[in-house]
Amino acid sequence: MITVGLLGCGIVGTQLVQLITDRAPTIAASTGVELRLGGIAVRSVSKDRGLPIDKMLLTTDAEALVADPAIDIVVEVIGGIEPARSLILAAIGAGKPVVTANKELLANVGAELYAAADEAGVDLLFEAAAAGAIPIVRPLRESLLGEDVHRVMGIVNGTTNYILTRMTDDGVSYTDALSEAQRLGYAERDPTADVEGFDAGAKAAIMASIAFGANVVAGDVYHEGISAITQGDIEFAKQFDYTIKLLAIAEVFRDGHGGQAEIGVRVYPAMVPDEHPLASVRGSFNAVFVEGEAAGELMFYGRGAGGLPTASAVLGDLIDAADNLRRGTHQSVPHGPRAKIRSIDGLESAYYIGLTVTDSPGVLSTVAGVFGRHEVSIRAMQQQDSGAEARVAFITHTANERNVQATLTGLRKLDEVSDVHSVLRVIGP
Ligand code: NDP
Ligand code: HSE
Repeated sequence: MITVGLLGCGIVGTQLVQLITDRAPTIAASTGVELRLGGIAVRSVSKDRGLPIDKMLLTTDAEALVADPAIDIVVEVIGGIEPARSLILAAIGAGKPVVTANKELLANVGAELYAAADEAGVDLLFEAAAAGAIPIVRPLRESLLGEDVHRVMGIVNGTTNYILTRMTDDGVSYTDALSEAQRLGYAERDPTADVEGFDAGAKAAIMASIAFGANVVAGDVYHEGISAITQGDIEFAKQFDYTIKLLAIAEVFRDGHGGQAEIGVRVYPAMVPDEHPLASVRGSFNAVFVEGEAAGELMFYGRGAGGLPTASAVLGDLIDAADNLRRGTHQSVPHGPRAKIRSIDGLESAYYIGLTVTDSPGVLSTVAGVFGRHEVSIRAMQQQDSGAEARVAFITHTANERNVQATLTGLRKLDEVSDVHSVLRVIGP
């Protein structure tokens, strides 16, 4: 019998309680692991949690729950840095395995927690911390251990993918779509983490650290969110047969001479060709591509957010940790030196640039001249007239970030350009 101390009983925690209650007998029969809940730490013991929880299990004293000798394994689904960090360190210090879904925590102080778990010889499992129900941490950590992974790219935030899907497919406003995502339990407590790309950035940092064997932290990730995306951008994207998605991309650049590799990690909204598999990832679903030297391309797809899918990933880790505890073993933790980060200026992408310009002869050639002067080559163009002004959208060939930024500065200085209303990266087919 393995007794679980649950820290947090919100969207994910309540679903985990339900899953453990419903499935404990089946899990025991199929794995030999008998799980029982020994206590649940929350902020308010009187709050209605929508399911019948034995009130005797609830406590506001998370520290005491972690320290309770009856608790074998700790599951942390509180979120945020503190008190989650201190509680996890206390659990590890007491020799208790920990399962967490907390990407913000791991992307900021993961190295400290991995080192503590390593020293104590206990499990620290976190499948749910990247892309919800999708098994991506374990494949990167175990199945692809011998693989030379050079790129991990995908849609790793359910809230923003839900918002963009509702805006694209149903014309729903950004604000309404965000409220829906919150109601459905996809969003973080502060949804700024989702819509400004912090959450996807944290997941990208976690995946990059495991995939490339170097410690990448949240602050290393260049990120832009989706709060500035308009229906106009979405309509223009449709005209070019693209769909706008918030992407997380992590790449490793090796010098071929055995020097320390550079890692580029970024999150930004991008136009994805309609025929690309990522374009059809809708709603709260996520998808992650992993590109390896020997394995080639792998794609992982599934529900990236929501209480039940996330609880499923937590439960899988919990059973694994319980089984390891029984056998007196534990998984290795991610190791690696501090990553050498390649800044966004040194990266390349194709671009979509939307401008509002004066609708008069010669304007387009003036605008095109600015692109040309900065070695940014134009691949396609669309125009919409609205009286004295026109909205024009350019798609460029792959260009260096620094050159594109110089182009944008040049465009903003032109009298003929009244607004640079959209700047989005474009992903190749
Ligand atoms: P919620 O905000 O719904 O739940 C947080 C829980 O933690 C609540 O039960 C709250 O108590 C409790 N809590 C907060 N502070 C304390 C404290 N100091 N001591 C004890 N308990 C505390 O969050 P979620 O369930 O959505 O998310 C939990 C974690 O899972 C986060 O790290 C999140 O990023 C991650 N995650 C969430 C996903 C999702 O789809 N929601 C998906 C993947 C990961 P009370 O209820 O009394 O207020
Ligand atoms: N808020 C997160 C998302 C939860 O929308 O993807 C899953 O990590």
